[in-house]
Amino acid sequence: RPPTVLQTPPMGFNDWNAFGCDVDEADIRAAADLLVTTGLRDDGYTYVGIDDCWMAGRDAAPGSRARAAAGRDASTHRLVADPRRFPSGIPALVAYIHARGLKAGIYESAGTTTCEGLAGSLGYEAVDARTFAQWGIDYLKYDNCGAKSVTVDGRRMHFTADEAGYRARYQRMADALAGVDRPIVLSLCEWGIHEPWMWAPAMAGLWRTTHDIKDRYASMLAIFEQNVRLAAYAGPGRWNDPDMLEVGNGGMTDAEYRSHFALWAMMAAPLLIGTDLRSATPETLAILGDRDLIAVDQDELGTPARVVSQAGTTWVLAKPLADGDVAVALFNAGDQPTRIDTTARAIAVRGGALRLHDLWSGEVMSAGSSFGATVAPHSTVVYRVTVEGQPSPSASAGQG
Ligand code: DGJ
Repeated sequence: RPPTVLQTPPMGFNDWNAFGCDVDEADIRAAADLLVTTGLRDDGYTYVGIDDCWMAGRDAAPGSRARAAAGRDASTHRLVADPRRFPSGIPALVAYIHARGLKAGIYESAGTTTCEGLAGSLGYEAVDARTFAQWGIDYLKYDNCGAKSVTVDGRRMHFTADEAGYRARYQRMADALAGVDRPIVLSLCEWGIHEPWMWAPAMAGLWRTTHDIKDRYASMLAIFEQNVRLAAYAGPGRWNDPDMLEVGNGGMTDAEYRSHFALWAMMAAPLLIGTDLRSATPETLAILGDRDLIAVDQDELGTPARVVSQAGTTWVLAKPLADGDVAVALFNAGDQPTRIDTTARAIAVRGGALRLHDLWSGEVMSAGSSFGATVAPHSTVVYRVTVEGQPSPSASAGQG
């Protein structure tokens, strides 16, 4: 079976940014419940992902052999969930997620251990793929931690640190997933080290392009700057992943979180909520649930925004949309309020009267061949730009 295709970037929840390794099944059930009760599921957030630390072994010392060994049954080699944090087991948790009209994601690593030193999948890809399929998993986040050499089928295999070595480790899981009787999205978490956008499309639906995001404006900005340059490599079925959302976690202002969300939507990034929805503020829910921005992210054309212009800390991005509109983001990355302008020509819409729909304020205004806004520090204005009227023939003639 060919790799499972995502026509639009995935949306959902993943526990890592909110809980790290300190996660249990109650946290996951709460996320599933709240996606439903807040309306976020119906806004499109359907994947509920369990990240690292669901396997048995967390009580053993960090770095110990016991820690990695505990997560795999010695005779069947099947993965074993942490009996204390996930006492109901993963199949029951997946059933809970599915019963709410959601899809289930899980995590493993293309090494002998996960980043938290728990059982990794390298050498056990086939049995793990079968286990995930049997459990009803819909999405696998596949990380890049653990030793890079391992005994496989009685033979010592070395996975070199060059591009081919990287590819080989991921290809093993892609092949294993292709061999099971359930479509499972493969999300590579290789951190952009060996240009995965060049080789991952053949095996995965999405791939991380950067190291981990942190809940700080500078981190979000650096990741944006790296990922926005890769627009040409993404589209329906193949998505750049600049990492999960930090919206709501407290390390940025709401204006910065609005920028984070708007920039991720412009880049057609996965929208994976990374905050504890039990304590989300109304403002956090309003950002995550903004249907106009979500529509930009999920637009069926699937073309990520390109950089129209960048001058110092001001950015203009344009994302063509399926109905002929163009989403335009005016991002002021700097510390002073700044006027940012662009033109119809620069954003590649034909001339004529423009209608601008400010997606954060809801305000609608008209404009001619150029437009802009004074943008507050660290803030992003997003216009959905519609060409309203053709310039009349005499007007065009008059313009010579
Ligand atoms: C590194 C990844 O980049 C993170 O998103 C997270 O999955 C952790 N590993 C888990 O250990």
